[in-house]
Amino acid sequence: MIIAPSVLTADLAALAEDCREALDAGLDWLHLDVMDGNFVPNLTFGPPVIRSLRSALGSEPVFDAHLMIENAEQCYQDYIDAGCNHISIHVEAVKHLHRAVTAIREGGASVGVVLNPGTPVEAALEVLSEIDLVLVMSVNPGFGGQSFIPQVEAKIRQLSQAIDAQVANGGRPVQIQVDGGVKAHNIAMLREWGVTNCVVGSGLFNDKANVAENLDIIHKALSA
Ligand code: DX5
Ligand code: ZN
Repeated sequence: MIIAPSVLTADLAALAEDCREALDAGLDWLHLDVMDGNFVPNLTFGPPVIRSLRSALGSEPVFDAHLMIENAEQCYQDYIDAGCNHISIHVEAVKHLHRAVTAIREGGASVGVVLNPGTPVEAALEVLSEIDLVLVMSVNPGFGGQSFIPQVEAKIRQLSQAIDAQVANGGRPVQIQVDGGVKAHNIAMLREWGVTNCVVGSGLFNDKANVAENLDIIHKALSA
């Protein structure tokens, strides 16, 4: 199980330090929640901040950009050039999904498709052979610290079956990433559903403990 720390609940005035804390705790992905105040009702950061983060943290960490923006089709290359290795785009935020995922791969990044809680799984199935990851939102996007929506189970199980069938036919393996409300108490259940990659924000960056201590609790939940 890949754990991708979401910096949304980190201290954004100390972004590099908080990311470094996660990397020092043994994590190698960083989930970067990019919000435009338009597709979602919140605003975070864009390519200049990501570029600075890349130069502060070096080339090792995987920068996983979750683009919650309206114009991803026009500006995905700015995020790749700023240092993102992976780009996930929302089905509802692009006009031509197949064209966008193909273009992102040609632009030099791996690519994911994001399903909101109200988005049917079929949208991702249509492009499953072209992508590296499906991000299943288990909260409505825009804010950290929300509660996990359990109805995503059916969507995750259906995706997992479709991916297994694709791999059995010699097709590409696709990660299932879940984002929103993932904590130590539900992460083992998600693995059982077929999830291979969990975004964790407030479960890692909170005032109860430091990232290493919180990660230890999550690892214990996964090995119990
Ligand atoms: C929500 C973001 C998530 C979120 C995760 O729009 O995509 O990455 O910040 O935070 P938690 O784990 O606190 O739900
Ligand atoms: Zn996210």
